[in-house]
Formats: sequence, C-alpha cells, structure tokens
Amino acid sequence: MTFSRSIKIAPSILSADFANFGLECEAIEAQGCDWVHVDVMDGHFVPNLTFGPATCAAIRPHIKGVMDVHLMIAPVDPYIDAFAKSGADVITAHLEAGPHIHRTLQAIRGAGAKAGLALNPGTGLEDVAYLLDMVDLVCVMTVNPGFGGQKFIHSQVEKVRALRAMIGDRPIHIEIDGGVTVETAPLVAAAGADVLVAGSAVFKGGSVQNPAPYGENIRAIRAAAQAAQ
Ligand code: DX5
Ligand code: ZN
Repeated sequence: MTFSRSIKIAPSILSADFANFGLECEAIEAQGCDWVHVDVMDGHFVPNLTFGPATCAAIRPHIKGVMDVHLMIAPVDPYIDAFAKSGADVITAHLEAGPHIHRTLQAIRGAGAKAGLALNPGTGLEDVAYLLDMVDLVCVMTVNPGFGGQKFIHSQVEKVRALRAMIGDRPIHIEIDGGVTVETAPLVAAAGADVLVAGSAVFKGGSVQNPAPYGENIRAIRAAAQAAQ
C-alpha cells in the first residue's frame, strides 16, 4: 500500500449479496473500486451482527487490492491476530470500544496490518491528538455505526476539516463511512477526506449477474469527489 491522497472508493460489502461475497468482491473490483470495506459487527458494540475472521479469510482470495476491515466490536484486542491472519491490510478499531485504544493500535501494527482509528459521530478529536503517531487511517463515521442505508450526519464535515488540519503532512488517510452518495461525497472530499466508504450508493441497481451499475455508481461518486478535492 503506497500512500496517496487521491480519492479512493471503498464499497462496503454490508450492502452486497451475503450468499455471494466472493463474486461480489470480484465484481466491484472489476467495476473499478479501490478498496473493499468489510464491516464486522458483534451485536454488542453495535446493534447488529455480521461475521468474523473466518469470513474475511474466505473472501481474501477474491480481493486483489486492499481489504479494509472495520471492527465494530468490543473488546477488540482478543481478535486482532485472527483478523490480521485473515489477510486484512487495514484493521480499524473504534476509539469508543474500550479504555486502551493506544494498546489496541499498537497491537494492530504489531500484527503487521495498517492501523485505523474510527470515531463515532458523537466523539470529538481531543483524544486523537495523542494517537496520531499510532495510526495510518482515521475513519470519521458519518452515521451511527450498525446499519447501511442511513442518512449522512452533516455536522461531521466540520470534524473532517479540523482533522485534516491536525494531520498536516503525516501520511494518514481520512476515511468517511456512512451515507456517502454523489451529493455528500463532495462535501467530505472538500474537507480533506480521501477514502470514501459507500455501501448502498455503490450496490444500488446492480447484482453479480448485472454488475455494470456498480461501475456507474463508483464512477459517479469518484467524479463528484474529485471535482471538489
Ligand atoms: C455502518 C458501516 C458502513 C455502512 C456504509 O455501520 O460501517 O460501512 O454500512 O453503508 P452506507 O454507505 O449504505 O451508509
Ligand atoms: Zn464501515
């Protein structure tokens, strides 16, 4: 993974056909996505359940590029090695998931993955200042985590702008997760984001049998974001 601030589109497979993850990953990559975003939920940190490291390992051979694993689980630390072994390139943990996020980020890098730090919409940037040397990515949640298809929370755009200023020249990605569409992508791209997660907005209208709409959706979101960057 070489660092760049160019716009990267990361479809969330939360909106994919759960019976066909491998084929869906191949389809979105063939249609031009940059990263594949994998949402892991535990029914405890967030009110929804998805899947764990075995599923990540199973889809890994179907992804040529970056596998971006977003852990919405608590605790995190007991599972880091399993997700790293599953082939995750980026492992993102939530600042709110426990009292020792510093240790968690150390453990993620120690396991050989890039370390991501996710912030819920109600979380401020104060604590992030002390973690900047530990992270390769900060994920600003623009919905409350747990479900796809929610409405973008506009108050987070200002947080992205402040985070971008805080990061300065450090090689840290700013990822946006939740409610990203052709309408909201330019707002966060202008504020400094470079990785745009999009679930419903990428998968709408398409399927494994008819993947062309995935490509149209990816190109439209990318063009809107690039024009604003
Ligand atoms: C939310 C997840 C997301 C989300 C994105 O908890 O982390 O990745 O499902 O879905 P959309 O783009 O539909 O908001
Ligand atoms: Zn996510």
